[in-house]
Amino acid sequence: MSLSHILLVVSLTDFLYRIHVDACDRNCADKPVFTPSRLVVKYGDPVAANCSVCEDCLYLFGLETPLGEQNQNGTTISWKAPKMTEWDPAPSCYYTKKDSDDQCCSDLPITVYQPPDNVLIRFDGHTGPMFEGRYYTLQCEVQKVAPIENLIVTFYKGQTALDKQPYNGTYKKPVTKIYNLVITPREEDDGAQYWCEAKLELGPEGPQPPPVVISQKITASVHYKPRLQGSPHSQITIKAGSPLLLNCSAWGNPSPSYSWTLPSGSPHSSSSNVLTIDSVASANGGLYTCSVSNSRGTINVEFNVTVEEINIILIIGIVVVIVAVVAVCGLLYCRYYRTKRMGKYTLKDVFRLGRQHTAVPITE
Ligand SMILES: *[C@@H]1O[C@H](CO)[C@@H](O)[C@H](O)[C@H]1NC(C)=O
Ligand SMILES: *[C@@H]1O[C@H](CO)[C@@H](O)[C@H](O)[C@H]1NC(C)=O
Ligand SMILES: *[C@@H]1O[C@H](CO)[C@@H](O)[C@H](O)[C@H]1NC(C)=O
Ligand SMILES: *[C@@H]1O[C@H](CO)[C@@H](O)[C@H](O)[C@H]1NC(C)=O
Repeated sequence: MSLSHILLVVSLTDFLYRIHVDACDRNCADKPVFTPSRLVVKYGDPVAANCSVCEDCLYLFGLETPLGEQNQNGTTISWKAPKMTEWDPAPSCYYTKKDSDDQCCSDLPITVYQPPDNVLIRFDGHTGPMFEGRYYTLQCEVQKVAPIENLIVTFYKGQTALDKQPYNGTYKKPVTKIYNLVITPREEDDGAQYWCEAKLELGPEGPQPPPVVISQKITASVHYKPRLQGSPHSQITIKAGSPLLLNCSAWGNPSPSYSWTLPSGSPHSSSSNVLTIDSVASANGGLYTCSVSNSRGTINVEFNVTVEEINIILIIGIVVVIVAVVAVCGLLYCRYYRTKRMGKYTLKDVFRLGRQHTAVPITE
């Protein structure tokens, strides 16, 4: 027999099988019963099931399977295979009653699964740091998984689930699929870890817990323009001679650099976040500008410094007041002194009075 003859025989058998199964009534009473009624089996694992029919259904009783061996014992056919090596086995059990042309059938639903070989995550067409507010596509590649319709891919940032994606389609054989998620990273995402998880949800007949394969973790680097720490006072009034401290501390990624412009308009040599003057003079008053910048942008912070001089007119006024006070005091003192001198006269009077007193007995 030539190869073409063999192929013809094979395809004819296949054709007859299809006719036979397709012509079969799947809604008949007394359907053949599979035990168990559903199977979930990992590709390469052993598989077994039984099909039973009623006592008077044995006239033409059979089980169509693409692999394994069968044993009939009365009304039951037991089927088993040491390794599941088909992706869509679909066993079918049938019978025909004596003196009848109608076939009655049952199918055994079998889900043959294979956890993904590998799960990879990456940014689509992008390497290096990301810029805040831009769009980036995270890609999760799930390699050689079956069946794809039972796969749920979840994207994670740290411990937070970002998005769950099922696949819209049906393939029995293992396929490699790419799932996408668009993200717009923000400042707080700098250093965050992104990863994805591929989970085969196979129902209660499937393995518990369901098979899960996770990707590696990729750490995001997000660049963003500087932000000010706190809110510096923009209007500053300070007394001459006091120390001045201007602070425009900020953060950013990359770390920002600082430059200062003085009231004179000239740049200052300081590249620090603070500018200090130990003792301000009136010449130090005016507008100071602090420029904070990194590769993502620049912010300018303005400080308007007013220096309060000790007023000359005020000093003159104070001097005049002091002089006036001194003068008034002097006058008052003079008058008091004169009063004291009048006191001396009084003493003389007392003396004189004393003499008068001693004279008294003489007159008596
Ligand atoms: C099939 O039936 C046989 C006996 O009839 C039993 O030993 C076996 O466990 C059954 N298999 C399944 C998968 O139910
Ligand atoms: C067939 O099934 C009967 C009972 O259902 C059992 O007693 C018998 O041992 C079985 N025979 C074989 C060969 O499994
Ligand atoms: C899935 O695909 C079918 C047809 O292919 C379509 O009608 C349906 O809207 C799709 N569902 C989703 C969620 O994309
Ligand atoms: C500048 O301001 C920041 C934030 O308000 C503060 O943490 C820091 O200590 C200040 N630096 C100085 C030198 O005062």
